[in-house]
Amino acid sequence: MEHNLKKTLSPFHLNEEIILKNRLYFSAMGIDISYNDGRASPEFIQFYKNIINGGCGMVILGNASIHPSTRLQQRGLCLHNDAHAEALYPLISYGRKNCCEVVVQLQHYGTQGSSEYTNTPLLSPSDSIDSRRKEKKGDYGIRVMTLDDIIKVRHQFVEAAKRAHLAGARIVQLQASNGYLLSSFLSPYTNHRLDEYGGNPFRRMKLLIDVISDIKQALPNLKVSIRLGIDDCLGERGQKPELLAPCLDMLYSLGVAFIECSMSIKETFSWMLNSTCESKRLFHRGIKTIRSATCLPLGFAGFIPDLNDAEQLMCELNVELVGMTRAIFADNELILKSITGREGEIYKCHFDGNCFRDKSNPSIDRVYCCVNPRYQRPKNIVYQR
Ligand SMILES: Cc1cc2nc3c(=O)[nH]c(=O)nc-3n(C[C@H](O)[C@H](O)[C@H](O)COP(=O)(O)O)c2cc1C
Repeated sequence: MEHNLKKTLSPFHLNEEIILKNRLYFSAMGIDISYNDGRASPEFIQFYKNIINGGCGMVILGNASIHPSTRLQQRGLCLHNDAHAEALYPLISYGRKNCCEVVVQLQHYGTQGSSEYTNTPLLSPSDSIDSRRKEKKGDYGIRVMTLDDIIKVRHQFVEAAKRAHLAGARIVQLQASNGYLLSSFLSPYTNHRLDEYGGNPFRRMKLLIDVISDIKQALPNLKVSIRLGIDDCLGERGQKPELLAPCLDMLYSLGVAFIECSMSIKETFSWMLNSTCESKRLFHRGIKTIRSATCLPLGFAGFIPDLNDAEQLMCELNVELVGMTRAIFADNELILKSITGREGEIYKCHFDGNCFRDKSNPSIDRVYCCVNPRYQRPKNIVYQR
């Protein structure tokens, strides 16, 4: 097949020091195969080495929990002590040696976490959660954050960033999308505060700005990128790109490295999992709105099956980076096979969202794939769509 992958395969200069060999990245995938204490296990390290060997310019490690009080899965990655940093160090060094930047995503789950492994309440900006989240009030409950809680969480982000730095990371990504804590502050759906952390889009962004500023002050050489939830897929009730657009100058002034656009929250996850014309249209329209509001480097991941699509969308949406999670999970060598004329050998992702459903399936131990022979889902696991 004839290729024109001029933009996709060109290097990207994040700054003088950090040059990505191409524009393709593996967007965060919380695969929950760490040890129970949150340290990266040999299985975890090998999973990511396989991705790195496949040729992308950057890998974002998913969901590193910033504090013992916020967890979702028992085997989720954590980054709140030196042992966590030590366990990640060999992977980040491996990435560096193989010209692949390994970014660590810092995560506070907020009300989308679970008290099961923490025995603490879930933190929320306001007492305005929907009925599904209220069900959690039966266990340790949901706690509306006081100003004191905010100070503690800011500190936890800085401590986690220090561990990422200790592990050798040059970039961290703040998870400010998909309904988790930072994005729950950004969204009018979950943030009804009347103090300086709520009331309008600028004030809703204050926690994110505080966290970025704190990290920058503590670690001036560490680059901070943001995974930004640009649309909750709730229409007028939720976050929309138009609400965020006027606030993006604040991120620019703080020297954010790049923004990865994402959409949907727990209540609307199906928008991101199932590829429909409507979900793609909404996402692409949102990215264009964000593009017109900032000159910060932009990336996004969502339903990109191959490099030709990546190239076309990168040009059409005028973004600098393009993420692929499920397609690269389905075939870790997708990039290498594509650029060496072996497209016919690629295991192609079905984009059915089943790998994501594995995360909350108590009868299986990890995330599987329906096409990658390395991670083949057990035959007895069948999901209804
Ligand atoms: C199994 C699975 C786990 C994921 N874990 C994370 C995560 O830890 N953090 C995150 O920000 N996004 C996570 N995502 C979302 C992806 O980063 C990405 O935005 C989404 O899958 C859409 O991209 P794709 O169509 O290329 O897969 C996950 C997705 C899947 C399928």
